[in-house]
Amino acid sequence: MSSNESNSNSKELLRMAGINKYFGKVHALEDIDFKINETENVGLVGDNGAGKSTLIKIISGYHRAEKGQIYFEGKKVRISSPKDSRALGIETVYQEQALAPDLSISRNIFMGREPATALGFLRKRVMDEESMDALKSMGLHLRSPNINISTLSGGERQGVAIARAFYFEAKLVILDEPTMALSVKEVREVFNFVNQLKRKGISVIFITHNLHQVFTISDRIVVLSHGKKLVDIKKKDTNVDELSEIIVRGTIG
Ligand SMILES: Nc1ncnc2c1ncn2[C@@H]1O[C@H](COP(=O)(O)OP(=O)(O)O)[C@@H](O)[C@H]1O
Ligand SMILES: [Mg+2]
Repeated sequence: MSSNESNSNSKELLRMAGINKYFGKVHALEDIDFKINETENVGLVGDNGAGKSTLIKIISGYHRAEKGQIYFEGKKVRISSPKDSRALGIETVYQEQALAPDLSISRNIFMGREPATALGFLRKRVMDEESMDALKSMGLHLRSPNINISTLSGGERQGVAIARAFYFEAKLVILDEPTMALSVKEVREVFNFVNQLKRKGISVIFITHNLHQVFTISDRIVVLSHGKKLVDIKKKDTNVDELSEIIVRGTIG
C-alpha cells in the first residue's frame, strides 16, 4: 500500500467493530465495522433507511449498540451519552437541525457550554467575540453575533453548527445530511466549511444520499444498505456510476 496516495494519514482515530443495533424487530445495523483515520474525510452513503443516522447516533451517544466495540485513538471507549461523545472530541451536526432558531448565533455556538463568571453570569462579550472569530475562521462573515438563527440561510446555519464544532476543538466532525434542503449555492458554501475543517486537520464523516457530493468532498466512501456495509473504498478506486449501480442493486458484483 502506498501511503502518499490519499491525503489522509494512516493513524486511526475512530474504529467501530461488529456493531449491531435493533429497533424492535428491525435489525438497523448488522455487524458493522467502520473506521476513520486522523485527517480523513469519509463519505457515508446509502438509501433512506440504510442505517446511516443510526450508525452515527451510536458514535454521538444518542443510541447504544446491542453488540460491538468502539475504539477512539486506539483505546476502547464507552459512549453512553452525547456528553461522553463530546468529551472525546466528537461533534455531530444533525439532519434534524441541532440549532435553536430563536436564539442568537453566539448563544447557539455556546449552547450547553456557556462560559460563566464565578457568580454564574454568562460572559456575553466573550461569547460574542469568540463566536464571530470562529465563524470568520470558517469563512463566514455575518454581521452580528446577536442575530437570530431563524434569519439565516440554510447554508449559513450549517456554517454556525460547523463553527461550533471547530471552536470546541473537535477531532471528528459528523455531518448528517448537511446539504439536504439546500440550494446549489448553499451546498457549495457547506463544501467550503468542510474544506476548512479538512485544512485544519479535523476528520469528517459526511453523510448524504447524493453520490456526486461525496465524490467532491470525501477521500473514502462507505456504502450502507439495509443495515449492512456494502462497500468501503477509496474514491480514487471507484466512480459515481459504479457506486450508484451497487446502491440500486443493493449488492456487489
Ligand atoms: N428511533 C427509531 N425507532 C425505530 N426505528 C428506527 C429508529 N431510528 C431508525 N429506525 C429504523 O432503522 C432503520 C435505519 O434508519 P436510519 O439510520 O435513520 O437510516 P438512514 O439515516 O440511512 O436513512 C430504518 O429501518 C428506520 O426505520
Ligand atoms: Mg438519516
